[in-house]
Amino acid sequence: MGRKIVLPENEMPQFWYNIQADLRNPLPPPLDPLTLEPVSPEKLSMIFPENLIEQEVSRERWIKIPEEVMNKLLIWRPTPLYRAFSLERYLETPARIYFKHEGVSPPGSHKPNTAIAQAYYNKIYGTKRLTTETGAGQWGSALAFACNQFGLELKVYMVRVSYNQKPYRRILMEAWGAKCVPSPSMDTEVGRKYCEKDPEHPGSLGIAISEAIEDAVTTKDTKYSLGSVLNHVLLHQTIVGLEAKKQLESIGEYPDTVIGCVGGGSNFAGLAFPFLSDKINGKEMKVIACEPSACPTLTRGPYVYDYGDTAETTPLLPMHSIGHKFVPPPIHAGGLRYHGMAPLVSFLVKEGLIEARAYTQNEVFAAGLLFARTEGFIPAPETNHALACVIEEAKLAKEKGEEKVILVNFSGHGIIDLAAYDLYMSKKLEDYLFSDEELSLLVKDLEKFPRP
Ligand SMILES: Cc1ncc(COP(=O)(O)O)c(C=O)c1O
Repeated sequence: MGRKIVLPENEMPQFWYNIQADLRNPLPPPLDPLTLEPVSPEKLSMIFPENLIEQEVSRERWIKIPEEVMNKLLIWRPTPLYRAFSLERYLETPARIYFKHEGVSPPGSHKPNTAIAQAYYNKIYGTKRLTTETGAGQWGSALAFACNQFGLELKVYMVRVSYNQKPYRRILMEAWGAKCVPSPSMDTEVGRKYCEKDPEHPGSLGIAISEAIEDAVTTKDTKYSLGSVLNHVLLHQTIVGLEAKKQLESIGEYPDTVIGCVGGGSNFAGLAFPFLSDKINGKEMKVIACEPSACPTLTRGPYVYDYGDTAETTPLLPMHSIGHKFVPPPIHAGGLRYHGMAPLVSFLVKEGLIEARAYTQNEVFAAGLLFARTEGFIPAPETNHALACVIEEAKLAKEKGEEKVILVNFSGHGIIDLAAYDLYMSKKLEDYLFSDEELSLLVKDLEKFPRP
């Protein structure tokens, strides 16, 4: 058997898979925080174009990928599925490990799978300009690439601590023609409030989202775009799992264990949902979502209604959350520092279909480095969380002498994140752990909202 399982271009899936069609119980709706009633599509249309709102609420199982989107995805898709022979050999495991390499896209992660789709739907809707937020810059650079492909303007609010520490993705955004400012910024009312209190405020994803939304609703022909969390974003990512399913089928394999890291939940959902449809119908498998112990949304946050942003401008979303006032510690997996989690992922955890695990920075960088020293590719810090779990599961298979098939989403490469590897290798990475008291303070406010 070869090392890579490659799907020809003409076999790239032509439909996205919508897991909402297969849920036994319906997903609780987002609520209007003023009335506590389900939010109306009209309210959402101030922020998003109607064609994406339709996808957000759709219950159709298969949604056709438009030809213009297919043509752009073909720049790097289908992505290769790799068998991790060297890692298996190193671990002396009977498990067979497969990783789906989403780091081969131009910006280096899975994020353009939805960025391309969102830019396209905005373009045909008539949007001229998009706004968004970004943490470490993976999403901002993916949307910059996509907007450049479709001729849209883009402004990115980048969490200040990352803007200062990690200039390379800002440069990528600018190379693709986007404007990128540190958040909180002086360009919005929300941002000015934070800057006045502290001109060097480190920022958070929640604040950057508030700024990007304010900009979108107050500027002509402008909409907002989100890189994770929402149903339509997860939908666009399912091309990952659908490709992986075809690739595994072509060699007569099916996974026992499906693994992904979770920030807002999109790369994990993209890989896992097409397999979860089989689990819903009775197939046995483990599906594991991996997060940082420093932002333990699924493993320790309650399942509640919470705002998606810090300034409380979004609808209330039914999700696992550690509270929208959370300002994350400076862990190096910038993409996993969101206080909430995709409602669909949260719901499937509650339904018992997905399990969640948390890992510390030092654990995940040890896993990432082992991966780099066996398979060669340097993984993104976010991806390392999933790899820590892969290694754990492969060791378990060895202990039990079981030939498990493990599938993981290699959500991005880490070539622009080398400074974090440097800190790890020079033993300067710190682990952050929350006390239960800190957590309960962060979610105290949410008790006033109904439980989903
Ligand atoms: C490489 C990579 N993996 C994972 C994530 C987490 O996001 P999500 O949970 O939406 O896939 C990010 C977010 O920026 C990322 O850049």
